[in-house]
Amino acid sequence: MRALKRVARPLFPALLLASALWPGRLRRRAAAGAGLVGLWSVVYARYRREGRAQTELEWNQLRTAHETAFALHYNLRVPTIEEEFDIWGAYHQHRHEMRYDLVAAEARRHLRPGAVILDVGCGSVLVADRLADVPAFYVGLDYGGHHIAYAAGKIAKASSRLRHGLLRGDGETLPLSDASVDVVVFSEVIEHLMRPERAVWELARVLRPGGVVVLTTNNASEVPLRSPLSHAFAWVEKMVAADRPDLMSLRPWIWPEPVDRSLLGLPDHAPDVYLPHTHHIPAQTQGLFRAAGLDPVSWSTFEFPPPQSATAAWLERRGPAGRRVVDRIEALCQATPGLRRMGTHLFMVFRRTDAPLPPGGPPPGLWPGPFSA
Ligand SMILES: C[S@@+](CC[C@H](N)C(=O)[O-])C[C@H]1O[C@@H](n2cnc3c(N)ncnc32)[C@H](O)[C@@H]1O
Repeated sequence: MRALKRVARPLFPALLLASALWPGRLRRRAAAGAGLVGLWSVVYARYRREGRAQTELEWNQLRTAHETAFALHYNLRVPTIEEEFDIWGAYHQHRHEMRYDLVAAEARRHLRPGAVILDVGCGSVLVADRLADVPAFYVGLDYGGHHIAYAAGKIAKASSRLRHGLLRGDGETLPLSDASVDVVVFSEVIEHLMRPERAVWELARVLRPGGVVVLTTNNASEVPLRSPLSHAFAWVEKMVAADRPDLMSLRPWIWPEPVDRSLLGLPDHAPDVYLPHTHHIPAQTQGLFRAAGLDPVSWSTFEFPPPQSATAAWLERRGPAGRRVVDRIEALCQATPGLRRMGTHLFMVFRRTDAPLPPGGPPPGLWPGPFSA
């Protein structure tokens, strides 16, 4: 029965589509077209209902997050980025390296000699590796002590024109003075934070007027991969809801796996604790940055196809040839209007205005997360 469903699901709409397009009697074509629209409407209504319920569930699950769980998880459970490459393999590393190349190229465009670049959540300092020839000063900051220790070991061996400093700290309370930084790199970090609005305020505080933030993060919905139809909905929503967050049905807020219970010493009856892995919607994220005096300069997306898709798994199995093909797919998608908005990750640039930072920190409700205050 299941196998039958798996075949019928894509086949039925494909037959209707073929019948609507096939030359011949107008009545047959109109009926097939109406059937297709009806089918899509029913499936979309269900996708939207289920997506919204899931989004609400995750938003509520995020309320279980707390600072202790955050600190233990990020210091004792999360491997360094270069250890992750060993765990996840060459395809995963290749996809990440594309992101470091993009981020470093953008940062380089804004760096003058002697500039200060701050990498918040620097991980294994892979952006710094790509800026080794720049006569600037790089500050790598991370919450995880093991990331900083690893980065220090790596930097000690590197010869580079880029001077370095490493700090263990929290992006929500930066240990740097006002207007002391020219470029902030904030790559795949904001989605982990419980109060991203506080970190954005801090970035605005430490940036000099005219300085830029280069941000990457998750783009809107996660493709649920239930059926080709619902898959398509998630893609179309990514495109249209970028400017209309209310149109987004499915917006993940948490890591699907809860924090390791043994790490927290939770008794059997205690509920699981979840940490953020928020997916961002461009218009909303731009609003958050704009409120802190960080004007949006540009935004685009990258990483096609999604890393969890069957296509990515197939390409991964092809080895080096798969990596060459995925580079072609990436270039094609990034150059195609419309599709360009649908990548798995957002790439955004913001510029610090001359306006003083609004006093009192971010206003409550500016960010829709459960800890916004
Ligand atoms: C997905 S990794 C990205 C690392 C690096 N930016 C990269 O692109 O390779 C997320 C990083 O953010 C760090 N992080 C998490 N919460 C943080 C916080 N509140 N302040 C600073 N760094 C944080 C983690 O320790 C981790 O190194």
